[in-house]
Amino acid sequence: ETKFWTIDPSNVDSIQIEEAAALLEDNQAVAFPTETVYGLGANALNEQAVQGIFAAKGRPADNPLIVHVADKDQIEEVVTHIPQMAHKLIDAFTPGPLTLILESNGSCASNVTAGLPSVGVRIPDHPVARALLQACRLPLAAPSANRSGRPSPTSAEHVYKDLNGRVAGIVDGGPTGVGVESTVVDCTGARPVILRPGGITKEDLEEVVGPTDFDPALVNQEEKPKSPGMKYTHYAPEAPLWLVEGDLAFLQRQIEQLQQNDKRVGVIVSQEHAEQIQADEVQVCGSRAHLNEVAVHLYSALRSFSTDTIDVILCESFPEHGMGYAVMNRLKKAATQVITQDK
Ligand code: TXA
Ligand code: MG
Repeated sequence: ETKFWTIDPSNVDSIQIEEAAALLEDNQAVAFPTETVYGLGANALNEQAVQGIFAAKGRPADNPLIVHVADKDQIEEVVTHIPQMAHKLIDAFTPGPLTLILESNGSCASNVTAGLPSVGVRIPDHPVARALLQACRLPLAAPSANRSGRPSPTSAEHVYKDLNGRVAGIVDGGPTGVGVESTVVDCTGARPVILRPGGITKEDLEEVVGPTDFDPALVNQEEKPKSPGMKYTHYAPEAPLWLVEGDLAFLQRQIEQLQQNDKRVGVIVSQEHAEQIQADEVQVCGSRAHLNEVAVHLYSALRSFSTDTIDVILCESFPEHGMGYAVMNRLKKAATQVITQDK
């Protein structure tokens, strides 16, 4: 009973948008594309509607949701005030892959913020998401549209696999752009703090607001994250994922050792290394020289291996600058272990 629409993002059909918006106004959950990943949206002002998101995803109730709005005025409707640094960030990067943590004014349903005094807000930059937000004129709570713990969906097929039959509707607007989720920046303190690296890099942010910190939990695994969602198992593919830090010969040796133990090995590597690696299945995830491309292909690569044919997935490491920082953050969370070559 899940309804489907296929909408061309370059020529958005307003009748189909109205149908999907009507379900949202009726407090039902609808999945739609954003420029980062697909989101599962529902009316952020209604507790029952928001409860539907948690139920469909199997999401822990203490993990707050991001509220998606059409414009800056609509941000003002859910927060107490917009501090100076947040004004600068909104003007520079939105619509776009940036989520701001601001002081909540209590308008959103309490399960959106999991009882926190703050709320995460973002203005997405995707024609379908924007048309839906304009049509329903509601702030939409929307986490990524995957079953909790799985890689985020970058296509409507991914959403279908995880949520068909569990949500009222799925809007297919083609593949998403950035490939990893928005950067979450806490603007409630004296300086901006990155709680989750994403589509806007630290370098991008610093050009606009100056020195920006990473949440210590991103750097040191012992620290408790300020973003509640960062503590859960995340982005996990079906088979266990091993992140390999070492050269190509080291990676190939790991593959062969596993194969000698009757394991079928899948590998995720960059285009530059694809031809030099032999495994049971090889997925190429873009060029190491363009880490944005790696981000675009990362989640579909993780989803591409089935336990029917693969027992272990090995993935090469990427440089931790620019979008590589977000890519490595997701890989470290998805991995069951990190294998490091002795120096
Ligand atoms: O790109 C994105 O941000 C996608 C698309 C659909 O917009 N959404 C997304 O939502 O990734 P979700 O729910 O999968 O991740 C939300 C993250 C979680 O890590 C959550 O803990 C954090 O944002 N978050 C939300 N509200 C927060 C708050 N008030 N304080 C701290 N962290 C918050
Ligand atoms: Mg998510």
